[in-house]
Amino acid sequence: MTIKSQTLPQDIAEAVAAPLQETVVDYLSLASVVQQAHWAVVGPEFRSFHVYMDELAAELDGLTDTTAERMLAVGVLPRGQVDYVAAHAQVDPLPTTFVQKRDLVVALNERIAAVVTRIRERIVLLEELDAVSADLLIGATAGLEKTLWMLQAENS
Ligand SMILES: [Fe+2]
Repeated sequence: MTIKSQTLPQDIAEAVAAPLQETVVDYLSLASVVQQAHWAVVGPEFRSFHVYMDELAAELDGLTDTTAERMLAVGVLPRGQVDYVAAHAQVDPLPTTFVQKRDLVVALNERIAAVVTRIRERIVLLEELDAVSADLLIGATAGLEKTLWMLQAENS
């Protein structure tokens, strides 16, 4: 049994799926970092940051699912299990210690900005191949860049 795109040629569909798959891996690995931050945070404003990290993890879960299901819409089965993600992740893990909120904000900003930079490169590629998938990543970028603003405001 296979699923195929009914509107894109097979070679284009596969070329579209590749940057979407990379994005799924970025979201999953970033979500694991955010979850770790949710557990590792200590210091002033612990409670609000702990809750904020829960919200951000949920947002990333939503982005993961939307992107993975776009892959399915173009006929490619997404890969999101830990073995695949661990082998392909580009997001640096956090230290395995408790971390002050202020330092976590800096660490998360760096990691999210790196993910957004990679997504912006994928958007340029996808705009040539499939405007619908490009649009999906553009919308996600707006949300992630809003998060970058909010995190910066935490430490300003
Ligand atoms: Fe929790």
